[in-house]
Amino acid sequence: MTARVRKAVFPVAGLGTRFLPATKVMPKEMLTVVDRPLIQHVVEEARDAGIEEFIFVTGHSKSVIEEHFKENPELEQVLTARGKKAELAELARYQLPKGSVHSVIQEEPLGLGHAVWCARELIGNEPFALLLPDVLVQTQGKNCLAQMLDIYAAHGGNIIAVYPVPKDQVQSYGVVALGERDEDVSRIVSLVEKPKPEAAPSNLAILGRYILQPEILAFLLSRETGAGGEIQITDAMLALLKEQPFYAVQCDGRVFDCGSKAGFLAANIAYALERPELRDTVIAEIEKLT
Ligand code: G1P
Repeated sequence: MTARVRKAVFPVAGLGTRFLPATKVMPKEMLTVVDRPLIQHVVEEARDAGIEEFIFVTGHSKSVIEEHFKENPELEQVLTARGKKAELAELARYQLPKGSVHSVIQEEPLGLGHAVWCARELIGNEPFALLLPDVLVQTQGKNCLAQMLDIYAAHGGNIIAVYPVPKDQVQSYGVVALGERDEDVSRIVSLVEKPKPEAAPSNLAILGRYILQPEILAFLLSRETGAGGEIQITDAMLALLKEQPFYAVQCDGRVFDCGSKAGFLAANIAYALERPELRDTVIAEIEKLT
C-alpha cells in the first residue's frame, strides 16, 4: 500500500524578473490567466485531485497570495447586498477549507530545492506533491496531478511529469533519461538540470508537477548547489534515484510555460477559448488582428 498524498507544496517566492515591471510589486503568481491568478489555477488543480493541505513557500511581501485564499467578509457583504450571486458563488467555489493553508518564508532565493527544504517541517514524514505555478496544463478530463496520482496509486515511488520540448530549448529545463517500461509507465534512469542541448539525454523536460517521497528532504539538507548556482530539486532527485524508483508520466493535456511571455499569452488565449461565454468574442477579436 502506498501512503496517500495529502499535502502539496507551492513555491511562490520567485522574483518574477522576466515579467518586470508587472511584478515589481505584485507577485508573478498573481498574474491572471483570464480572470484567475496563476496560483489559483494550480491550487484548484491540487484541490480537485484530492489534496487536503496547501503549503505556500513565500518570499517577503507575498502576503497577497495568502490573502487571496482567505475569506474576505467585507467583499462578501457588499456582493450579498448587491445581489451578486454568481460572483459570490465563484468566490465560494475556490475557498479552501479553514486550516488547510499553511505558509513558510524562504528567507533567501537559493533555488527550488531550497524552497522545498524550507517546507520540511510542514511536509513531515509523508509523500507530497510539488506544483510549480509557472506551468499550467489544460486538460479535458482528469487534471495533470490527478493523472499522476493514479500512476502513483498503482506504482508508488516518485512520479515526475514530463513533456517533449524542442531540443534547442532543453537548457531552460530539467531533463530526464528514460529506461525500461514498467507496464504503463517508464522508469527514469537519470536527470539533469538545464543541460546544454548536446549533453541532454533526451528532449523530455520536467514539467513542474512532482510526487515525491519525504526522503528527498535529506538530500536537500547538504545545500549543495548545482545549475545556476542554485540548490536544485533535480540534483536531490538524482541522488534519491539510487534508492527509490522514479517514474515519468506524460499527462494528457496542453502545457503552457507561463514563465515565458509567449507561453503566458498563449495560456490566456487557450483558457479564454474554453469558456463558452468568451469563445466567440475572443475568436472574432483575434481574427480582426490577423
Ligand atoms: C524548474 C525546475 C526544472 C523544470 C522547470 C519547469 O526550473 O528546476 O527542472 O524543468 O522548473 O518549469 P525553473 O523554471 O525554476 O528555472
